[in-house]
Amino acid sequence: MAGQRILFWPCNKQGAPMASHYKNIVILTGAGISAESGISTFRDSNGLWENHDVMEVASPQGFSANPSLVYRFYNERKKQLQSIEVKPNLAHEALVELQSKLPGNVTIVTQNVDDLHERSGSRDVIHMHGELLKSRCLKTEQIFKTLGDIDELSICECCQTPGNLRPHIVWFGEIPMFMNQIESLLHEADLFLSIGTSGQVYPASMFVQIAKLGNECKTVEVNVEETAVSWNFDEKVQGPAGETVPVIVENILKGHF
Ligand code: APR
Repeated sequence: MAGQRILFWPCNKQGAPMASHYKNIVILTGAGISAESGISTFRDSNGLWENHDVMEVASPQGFSANPSLVYRFYNERKKQLQSIEVKPNLAHEALVELQSKLPGNVTIVTQNVDDLHERSGSRDVIHMHGELLKSRCLKTEQIFKTLGDIDELSICECCQTPGNLRPHIVWFGEIPMFMNQIESLLHEADLFLSIGTSGQVYPASMFVQIAKLGNECKTVEVNVEETAVSWNFDEKVQGPAGETVPVIVENILKGHF
């Protein structure tokens, strides 16, 4: 896949570059944006996630079959996320700059359960697959910030009963969150950027098509390689997110993109 190069940049009559015309940008992020922060992606090592079959650790069936394994797995992921080595990278930071400098709306929809967008300072982040540093009561559906470990004996604040807390993660076979809101945002979008996602998981894999139903939305995929849905995008930018996203953001802000 050839990387895209922008040859002609629009200028106003005085020859100065035009500011961005985008009013509603929607950015979908996946595991690839956090790869340079030290968090493994899901499908880069023979379909295993940190040496586990994803169905064992990320499905309701896996949770019923072996809850201790699932609790332990997410406790480890939490520790890793909060370790000193893991921090936002240049791609996360560039998106903060875009959100703060673009006069229009910039919404980040992430499949990632890490908090690197928020840690770098992004606002309006929609976590469609849940959040690692939260847990949920199976009975009341209340959500709690939980930085430490949870297990079968953990007691939730709402019903004070052990065994009711589960990771606040959308597992395979469960319905992603905020879908109505995301669909409306995609219909309004005039730029849809997909960064670091393999396009193998529905419904996020369909977002590019939903965005194209709206008003002349430009669609751009950023990835280190060709994906299952690359053919759907108007443009592809090939390269690591930490290198490509800052350049894309700079060009959007200058009206060059
Ligand atoms: N920069 C950009 N893209 C990258 C980088 C990088 N530095 N490193 C890897 N990638 C790309 C890979 O080429 C791949 O296309 O990131 C993508 C990661 O794909 P997956 O591991 O499949 O992750 P993702 O698409 O986010 O998975 C979606 O699947 O298991 C579920 O719920 C889980 O949210 C997850 C969902």
